Amino acid sequence: MSRGVVVKGWGIGLPEKVVTNDDLTATLDTSDEWISQRTGIRERRIGGTTSSLAIEAGRRAIESAGLLAADISTVVLATTTPDAIVPGTAATVQDGLGIVGGAFDVNAACSGFVYGLVVAAGLAAVGSGRVLLIGSDTLSRITDWDDRTIAVLVGDGAGAVVLEPVEGPGALLSWNLNADGSLRHLLKCDHGGYLYMDGKEIFRRAVRMVVESAQQALDDANIKAGDVDMLIPHQANLRIIQAACQRLGIPEERTAVVIDRYGNTSSASIPLALDDALKTGNIKDGSTLLLTGFGGGMTWASAVLKWGR
Ligand code: UT7
Repeated sequence: MSRGVVVKGWGIGLPEKVVTNDDLTATLDTSDEWISQRTGIRERRIGGTTSSLAIEAGRRAIESAGLLAADISTVVLATTTPDAIVPGTAATVQDGLGIVGGAFDVNAACSGFVYGLVVAAGLAAVGSGRVLLIGSDTLSRITDWDDRTIAVLVGDGAGAVVLEPVEGPGALLSWNLNADGSLRHLLKCDHGGYLYMDGKEIFRRAVRMVVESAQQALDDANIKAGDVDMLIPHQANLRIIQAACQRLGIPEERTAVVIDRYGNTSSASIPLALDDALKTGNIKDGSTLLLTGFGGGMTWASAVLKWGR
């Protein structure tokens, strides 16, 4: 009998400091109008470290599952902004939460949370205990705050889920992971440098990647777009999200959007959007969720997840 996973709990961690578009105009040649019209972003949270935000999100996820740190066997941390090159930031999170077991980072940029979900399901399949999966990023730390092409886009945050092994297929109904390293020049940050992005080129490719991989995940799960209760996309640009919804045939009211409040938080954006959809009552037990992300690498990935503890 194979083993799958179900989601037992979730939580988020956010810096307290809110930076509005108007705040940015004090130091950058930009405007609230440009940022909100071109990206959908109105404000973002800035501050903390990748580990501190991850610990907050992880603690809440464990609490919401009605569990203790001792009930978790592995920490999988999706991040593209680790606190240090060595050690992996997951080790700091494991220590901070008092978890006994394995801990490692997964770096697939903004696709990291979906990659991490598949890794966690794979761990369960080979016999692990509960996995704490966290997406946490502090893009503000690798941002040149004098570069208006990047500074207006980024935000910091974290989101986590507790995944519990179950007998049978579990909640992850289908998934696909994709990468094309020949496009790595489009979004990068060298050691000691700042984030660089060819926004136009990524925009052009992102919609197609998202639509193809999301549709593949739906086909593999034998689910029609009309039966998706909530699309949980990576939050990089509202226009990308809208274009993807339209092409997939999923109405915008069944799409989780938090980019207006948090900006682009990379690995954290999907779990932050998931948390928002849960809080607003748009996800219930038995809901069918379509998660889809894309980003540096380039990487892109989608998964169909059945909600319910
Ligand atoms: O999560 C990782 C994946 N990343 C993405 O998915 C990002 C995808 N790309 C995008 O979201 C968009 O390409 C951006 C939001 C980054 C840029 O929007 P755009 O509509 O592609 O604008 P653009 O780069 O074509 O720039 C248009 C104009 C330029 O001026 P000119 O050449 O028309 O005179 C820019 O210099 O807007 C100017 N501009 C700005 N103006 C005010 C660029 N940044 C700003 C700014 N404020 N912050």
